[in-house]
Amino acid sequence: MMRLDVLSIFPEYLAPLELSLIGRAREKGLLELTVHDLRDWTHDRHRTVDDTPYGGGAGMVMKPEPWGEALDAVLGASGAPADAADAADQPAADAGGRPVLIVPSPAGEVFTQQTARELAGREHLVFACGRYEGIDQRVVDWASERMDVRPMSIGDYVLNGGEVAVLAMVEAIARLLPGVIGNPESLDEESHEDGLLEYPVFTKPSVWRGHEVPAVLLSGDHGKVARWRRDQRLRRTAETRPDLLAALPPESLDDRDRAV
Ligand code: ADE
Repeated sequence: MMRLDVLSIFPEYLAPLELSLIGRAREKGLLELTVHDLRDWTHDRHRTVDDTPYGGGAGMVMKPEPWGEALDAVLGASGAPADAADAADQPAADAGGRPVLIVPSPAGEVFTQQTARELAGREHLVFACGRYEGIDQRVVDWASERMDVRPMSIGDYVLNGGEVAVLAMVEAIARLLPGVIGNPESLDEESHEDGLLEYPVFTKPSVWRGHEVPAVLLSGDHGKVARWRRDQRLRRTAETRPDLLAALPPESLDDRDRAV
């Protein structure tokens, strides 16, 4: 079972992870998700987690000590540093086993469906939500010796902290785990699974406020419906996300596709 630990000074921000699909997956025992309050690993009266930056400048930096103790606690026995020689000899041997530290940051690598798929195959994910100007760099340097550290951005804009980014990433990852989504076939034709955006969908009534459902969808001809949906996906992608179309491997398009 996948284990996820989220470290934050605003654990209430992660409350939505109790709801809906993810909440039910936790109840069913499909994943083990724990949200921790970073301040539980402070020892002063004010439960201080930040301090002024060395070298000067604006804002505050998250102190390394609470992070170190928090990571020790969530890593437990798996927190022993990896044998350097071992790691070099067999980089893939422990690919599922080494814990992953995901650090949300606008300066990170962009999180995509491919990242979600890759992380869904790992055993233990730890999310470190920073606030203020960020976390003391030595936390990442220390963690790199025993975890796969991945600074991750959810897009080119700035949030106040990592919590909202973690909500997005956990949802994208968890829904890929076996048993979380009732009908796994619904995952196949989604946007970003095969590089094309999804086709438009319609339900009853067949005419609504003067707008008709495309006739092909009422025809009962499954071949025609499939072709129409593929055409729609290609058109939508060309219009909204030409970058995605340009990135498709040429062999994934047939002659009929190219005519659309
Ligand atoms: N923290 C602040 N902005 C962020 C972003 N765009 N992605 C991930 N974490 C962030």
